[in-house]
Amino acid sequence: MESKRFSGVTGGDMYDLFKLSAPHYDVMEDQIGVILGKYCQNLTSDEINVLELGTGTGQTLDVILSSDPRIRVVSCDNESQMVEVAKASPHTHVRVIITCEDALSFLKSRMPESVDAVVTAFTIHNLEIPYREQVFEAISKVLKPGGIFINCDKHALTDYDAHQKNFLAHMTSLKVFDEIGRPDVREAWENHYIDDEKIELTEDSARFLLTANGFDNIEFSDRHWLDAICTAIKLN
Ligand SMILES: C[S@@+](CC[C@H](N)C(=O)[O-])C[C@H]1O[C@@H](n2cnc3c(N)ncnc32)[C@H](O)[C@@H]1O
Repeated sequence: MESKRFSGVTGGDMYDLFKLSAPHYDVMEDQIGVILGKYCQNLTSDEINVLELGTGTGQTLDVILSSDPRIRVVSCDNESQMVEVAKASPHTHVRVIITCEDALSFLKSRMPESVDAVVTAFTIHNLEIPYREQVFEAISKVLKPGGIFINCDKHALTDYDAHQKNFLAHMTSLKVFDEIGRPDVREAWENHYIDDEKIELTEDSARFLLTANGFDNIEFSDRHWLDAICTAIKLN
């Protein structure tokens, strides 16, 4: 099932235009690699298996691959327009498989306790809440005990005023598209953000879902406005 949240001016080869409004995007993506790389240093196996949810244009995929040469990644995205862009770029690599599939069926088709890490960026907040709950459960099932979950995403703060301040900062940043003569892009992302609010992924809800699914060492770091990186370790 395709959601079409990343099509038209918010998807495909137009997606990267979005970065004009989020100068912290690349910094946060790189930080995923730092966290994953540190985690991999403690693994002794010759091969490290990673699943990625939401390939997009493949930026997170590059970061994952660069973080340790032993990594093999299988990455899924349910929007064919995004998969086409990712497959057409240099991410096509011997250590990578990209598949056009929705995250839940992708996770469910994997062997239980078969992967060292599940990494995802700016994807889970797009998922409807009941579906998202199933995704957290499936992530836990597929991870080996001691495996890591890394999610760089919109994580709303529970404090209402603090969240509103962050939301406003994100919305204001979109004015850059008026400056380059693309009010259509501003409007599309504004609508996207307003829709995000209806199914908000909060720090508290992520913590709750992770704890309920057997994770510990749950941490949020590197916050920029609504965005923060969540890391958690699946218990033995
Ligand atoms: C905002 S992009 C982020 C891509 C990349 N991780 C990055 O950070 O640049 C989110 C991607 O998740 C994909 N996505 C959204 N819902 C999905 C689902 N249910 N299953 C698989 N992919 C999904 C979208 O198609 C989109 O390409």
